[in-house]
Order: sequence, then structure tokens, then C-alpha cells
Amino acid sequence: MKGLILSGGKGTRLRPLTYTRAKQLVPIANTPILIRVIETIRDAGVSDIGIVVGGDTAAEIQTTIGDGSQWNVKITFIEQASPDGLAHAVKISEDFLGDDSFVMFLGDNAIEGGIRDLIRDFDDNDWNSQIVLKAVDYPQFYGVAKLREDQSIDYLIEKPQDPPSNLALVGIYMFDKHIFKAVNAIKPSSRGELEITDAIQWLVDNDYRVFPHVHDGWWVDTGKAPDLLVANSYVLEELVPHIAETATIDADSEVDGRVTVQAGAKIINSVVRGPTIIGENAIIENSYIGPFTSVYHGVVVQNSEIEHSILLEDSRVEDLDMILRDSLIGRNAVVKSDKNKKPRGLVMNVADHSRIWI
Ligand code: DAU
Repeated sequence: MKGLILSGGKGTRLRPLTYTRAKQLVPIANTPILIRVIETIRDAGVSDIGIVVGGDTAAEIQTTIGDGSQWNVKITFIEQASPDGLAHAVKISEDFLGDDSFVMFLGDNAIEGGIRDLIRDFDDNDWNSQIVLKAVDYPQFYGVAKLREDQSIDYLIEKPQDPPSNLALVGIYMFDKHIFKAVNAIKPSSRGELEITDAIQWLVDNDYRVFPHVHDGWWVDTGKAPDLLVANSYVLEELVPHIAETATIDADSEVDGRVTVQAGAKIINSVVRGPTIIGENAIIENSYIGPFTSVYHGVVVQNSEIEHSILLEDSRVEDLDMILRDSLIGRNAVVKSDKNKKPRGLVMNVADHSRIWI
């Protein structure tokens, strides 16, 4: 069995973070989502993995992942000239996949509990495809499945205005070689993409065996900003806390048992409550870092209080007199109060598509 990770696309819904980086490389709990996906596939026993990349973000992804040896997997990059849909990504990966069965994982999806059991079930049965479904509150944002009473698939539809059920298609699919017949038979959808949902529907219509598995753990498609915070919280909950030997926590600080502090980080006269992660060489001084916060490498927080937020590398938060919460702070960004300056006021240098709540 092989793995296929889809990491092309544009990431428009995560702007402005994705103006300068691939959405699949945004970290949750200080690990880029794409690396979590690679580890999830590897932990299920699959080590021959293709990654579909495209456009401006291809080079950054290739440099970050390299040949995969760091994660004990073999990576092959597959270039997609333009983001023409998930089924198009499968189509261009045929040379890599050959006649092997494969698990396809969207590079911006995170799931609880891994995929070991799913892969075992697919191996043990004579299905042509297995799809994963999850009951969600807003199915209209996803592919949606309508099942019959006996749990077989009635039909699938991509982002319907009027969803026929609350079962969303999770971005994890298993296929055998017959999927290539399907992706070659379908036509682009109204949004101009070759949809994997239509390809699976083609398998169903042509009497191939497609088995739906309903997932009952958490699942997050991190493609939208609020979902990043949700995914971050779930993954922080799962993290086994660890204080690196080279981290320093001074005697005036209080760090509870659910906090991970990575190499070289310094916590000075501060309170840190978990689940939370403080990245390499970050400095937390005279501050409070509350639950569900990921502070990435090189971040500096001084004289401020933060909770339920993600701070990306080398950002700075200083001298705030209000708690910073539910926030996403981009790389090298500075959030700072000049409270001693007169006249008082807000001074901003804000990127395109930013959102600021005051
Ligand atoms: O997350 C689950 C949903 O993913 C499913 O419920 C939908 O049925 C499925 O179509 C997909 O919808 P999205 O709109 O979320 O897909 P998105 O465009 O965000 O792309 C998902 C991943 O695939 C992302 O990592 C980018 C990559 N991609 C996307 C396209 C369109 C490619 O590599 N190539 C592409 O052409």
C-alpha cells in the first residue's frame, strides 16, 4: 500500500497567513499539519508516500520535507501544474501509484486516533474504496454522503446548499487501481475542478464496492482560521508534556503539569497553564500563558497575558493591558501596546485580509 498526500491548492481561506507560506505548513501544537499527516500515515505502516505539490508553495514544502528520511519514510514529490481538483491530483499521480492500493490524505486535515484500523479494514476486505465520514454541524462546507438504512452509500454530493445529511466526507480515502477509471471518466464540476466526490460517485454508480466508515473521534479540516484554533486545542490535549533539558524555568515562575517546554525556551517570572506548548528559544517574561496556546519557536512574550491562541515563529507580544485570546499571530508579527506614549491611540500596520477585533 502507498500513501498520497495532497498539498497543492491555494489556501485562500487562511489568508493572510498563507500569503507567505503553504497552509499545510502552518503548525498546530508546534508541528506543521503536513508533518502530522506524514506521521499518521507512517504509524499505520505505510512508508512509500507521494506528496502532490503545486504553485508558489511547492519549493517550501519540498525543502521542509526533503526525502522524508527524518520521519523514516520515502517521499516522492508530484508536481501539479494548477489546482484542478482532488481527482485531478489522483490522475497525475498514476505513475507513482501504479497498480498499488493507496490511502489518500488531504494535507490540511487532522484526525483523532490515526488510520491504522482503517487501513487494516481496507486490507482485510475486498472493497475498491473506503471513505471516512463524520457527523458535522455545517455539512454544506464539505462533501456530503447520503447513506441508505443498511448504511450503504446512496449518493455523494460536493458542498451542497441543501445538505441531504450531516455526514461530511473526511479528507482520508482508500482506493484500489479502479479509481483511475473513475478520475478519467468524470468531467469538471461547476467550480471547474475534477472532484474526488464525483469520482467516488462514479465508482458507486458502476457497481464498485465503496465502504463508508463513520468516524466518531474528532476531525478538523484546518483550511479555515477558526478551525486552526480548534485543531490546536485538540492536539494540545493529546500531547504528552515534556520539559526539555535545555529549557529554563526560573524560581518565580509557575508551570503546571500539562505544559511542554521545548529546547532553549526561557520562562521568567511567569505563569503557564496547560495544555500549552512553548517553542524552542521562546522567551516568556512577566506574563501569563493560559490553556490551549501554542507559542512557536523564537517567540517573545513580555508583560502580557495570552490564552487559546497560536503565535507563529519569531512573533512578539509586549506590554498588553488586555488579555490576548482566540488569536492567530503570524510570523515575525509584533503586537504591542505603547501605553506610555501620548496621545494614546491605535497604531497599525496590517496585512491584506487581516482581521482585528478591538
Ligand atoms: O476536508 C475535507 C473536504 O476536502 C471534503 O469534505 C471535500 O469533499 C473535498 O472536496 C475537500 O474540500 P476542500 O474544499 O476543503 O478542499 P481544498 O481545496 O481545501 O483541498 C484539500 C487539500 O488538497 C489541500 O491540502 C490542498 C490540496 N489540493 C487541492 C486542490 C483543489 C491539491 O493538492 N490539489 C488541488 O487541485
